[in-house]
Amino acid sequence: MRIGHLRVNHLREPLGYDLTNPSFSWIVSDTDSKRRDKVRLRVFKNDECLYDTGMTAEADPLGTELPLPLLPRTRYRWRVAAWGDSGDRGEAEAFFETGKMGEPWQGRWICPGEEKNAILEKTFFLEEAPKKGRIYITGLGLYRLFVNGRPASDEVLTPGLNAYDRWVQVQTFDIGERLRQGENKLEIWLAGGISRGRFSYTPADGYEYCPYDCAVAELHAETEAGETVIATDESWRWRASPILESSIYDGEVWDPGREARRGSASLCAPPVGPLRDRFSPPVRIVRERKAQRVITTPRGETVLDMGQNMVGWLRFPARGPKGTVLRLQFGEQLERGCFSRANLRTAKAAFEWRCDGEERMAEPFFTWYGFRYVLLEGFPGPVDPADFIGCVVSSDLEEIGSIQTGHAGLNRLIENVRWSQRGNFLDVPTDCPQRDEREGWTGDAQVFADTACYNMDCAAFFTKYLTDMWEEQQKAGGCVPYVVPFARNRTKGFEGGAVGWGDAAAVIPWTLWLHYGDKSLLRRQLSNMRAWMEWVAGRGDWASACRHFGDWLALDRPEEPTERVGKTDVGFLCLCYACYSAELTARAALTVRDPALARRAQALADVYRRRLAEAYFTPEGELLCPTQTACVLALHLRLAPEPEKIREMLCRLVREAGHLTTGFLGTPWLLEELPAEAAWDLMLWEDYPSWLYEVKLGATTIWERWNSLTEEGCFSETGMNSLNHYAYGSVAAWLYGRACGLRPLPEAPGFRRFRWEPKPDRRVGCVKCSLRSPYGEIRSEWRYEEAELELLLTVPFDSEAEACLPDGRRELLGPGTHRFWVRDGKAQER
Ligand code: BGC
Repeated sequence: MRIGHLRVNHLREPLGYDLTNPSFSWIVSDTDSKRRDKVRLRVFKNDECLYDTGMTAEADPLGTELPLPLLPRTRYRWRVAAWGDSGDRGEAEAFFETGKMGEPWQGRWICPGEEKNAILEKTFFLEEAPKKGRIYITGLGLYRLFVNGRPASDEVLTPGLNAYDRWVQVQTFDIGERLRQGENKLEIWLAGGISRGRFSYTPADGYEYCPYDCAVAELHAETEAGETVIATDESWRWRASPILESSIYDGEVWDPGREARRGSASLCAPPVGPLRDRFSPPVRIVRERKAQRVITTPRGETVLDMGQNMVGWLRFPARGPKGTVLRLQFGEQLERGCFSRANLRTAKAAFEWRCDGEERMAEPFFTWYGFRYVLLEGFPGPVDPADFIGCVVSSDLEEIGSIQTGHAGLNRLIENVRWSQRGNFLDVPTDCPQRDEREGWTGDAQVFADTACYNMDCAAFFTKYLTDMWEEQQKAGGCVPYVVPFARNRTKGFEGGAVGWGDAAAVIPWTLWLHYGDKSLLRRQLSNMRAWMEWVAGRGDWASACRHFGDWLALDRPEEPTERVGKTDVGFLCLCYACYSAELTARAALTVRDPALARRAQALADVYRRRLAEAYFTPEGELLCPTQTACVLALHLRLAPEPEKIREMLCRLVREAGHLTTGFLGTPWLLEELPAEAAWDLMLWEDYPSWLYEVKLGATTIWERWNSLTEEGCFSETGMNSLNHYAYGSVAAWLYGRACGLRPLPEAPGFRRFRWEPKPDRRVGCVKCSLRSPYGEIRSEWRYEEAELELLLTVPFDSEAEACLPDGRRELLGPGTHRFWVRDGKAQER
């Protein structure tokens, strides 16, 4: 028996994270046992055992919360031992280490006066090389720490992006190995990020959270002689960095030869919200890609093609005589063969390097780009694509799901969804990575959450997002802003409360619970759910209480092609979602044993359901708001008094239109609510509008609109055309959940028990799906072999599947691999 995947709060060996209410999880594999018998969890501080569950059948491998009296800045070990029903046993160990846990800081906030993009520095002396060195640090807008000339870690874009007016995340880095006996130097590079730099609707007076760059840090170096603490204070100095300009939308300008002005750092007022231990999983360069080719365009431009729409930046050797200016512009598309940045709105998305005569490796520090093509200007001599490395930047999440099919277009689509998730899961789930937006739009995250949780382990990532959301909700009486973090209030006042967008507060926690089965995730976010539900309940007429986006970008108003809000009645959407979120809140409240809240939520849901039936259905059960999305929501949320009538209506509407017409809210569940064959017809449809249409036109990520590009590959005239917008990628949840048939069940979440009900289609030939569930690897496969259909399912240790085979046969399948074949409509086990 092997025990692996030890996690605390869904993080691997977390260092300095917020570990209030730590939840422990692990995965058992490589065992002949089918079921778990007993488990024992122990937590140690040095050799002292702080907690011992004893041998118990109670400890939950998906999340066992232990009431630990944790101390700040302390390392703990934890051991898990498990026994299986065939008598075998396994054991494994991991560590976690706390951060400052709110203890007072010796470090003070300091800043380089008015200087922008400067480096704060401190030289200090250590009598001997330390045996342990930790630094607790944060800086705004963004910072990078160097210790003795080397990066303190491989994380980028620290401290992450969040509502700084409510909390600022502190990072802890183990820098023991970087420190040495004698002189040492800390350097904190700073830039504006979203705090001081241009972001969202930055007002004319120039900043969103804090008008100056600043940092606070505390190094604890332990030697035999005791502890040395180096903390930020007025003894620090600053010097100008080579970064002349830095902005997440516009990019950076570097001048490595510029004269480094210097000065003394000054103490500054704590700029914003309180310091808290971090939640964000690290953002890193998660992979590197070589540029694929250099193109000379009809306009004579030199353009690099990365072969993939990606998010991050380029690294390259900058060479040229002193005074040469190398300029790069990033774009997603060639229009008529030429470089285009027509869809970036005001974002300059550029990088400039002023050569000082020395060859150096160049790459930006505090910005990112969404791009496939890079326009190069000022490069002396011929350009070698091998010089340019594409650094793919993303929150570093474990990729747990994969699907391979016998259909090349579908495979590309699946990859496109993954690339869009990678590119837009950059500490915040953003709508898009390229134009002057890049914000945590709640609706986009809500519709994509299910897909996201199949593709990657998103528990810690979304926990940070929901923590931020909760901070915003507290400012707004429970209402959820359109975007989280919500940096726009200085210019625009409060904006939020939109149907399907604000509901992220209920849908995302529930989705995490379904996929990962850790109750602590629900408990933690119950406040988001409750507050949102009460805010909605307090509106009276929610539909007219704020600006709504409706079924955003739906195609059901052909007579008004520029209208973005689809045709589905907003009042209808409000009742559907109010009922949905209230029901999720009721179920969550029951799960975490809050019966009063559960009753309240269920009563509200019942009211909405009744109102919906009265206002939008005839006594015969016909739907009075005939759009594809309205049918989909009524069916999916079980709000239709006569579901079969509505299903017929949905099929008719799709037939009459000849295609889908759904927008952001209808698309995720459209295929699920159609009969399998009709669903596959839409899935495999290659003409406009469809998922494979964009694949046919060469897309390597998911587009914002069904028609973001014209057939000729030009941006359509609709305006607002990101080519990397994951919302419509929500269809991947259908591929995992229906096509491959793997669905978590709310009564046994986290795949403790799951539904296996694949919907094979001969046109696709075969699928191979693998999902590293919280119980271990699940495999679901099917393949057509002439007249036969073969199916395979692997159920992990301690899990079980409710199988529903293509002939309708139902069976409960336990751990192990199960093979079936279907011939003449009858399924048999092999
Ligand atoms: C974003 C969307 C978002 C929408 C709200 C757009 O600008 O890119 O994805 O959900 O606004 O309607």
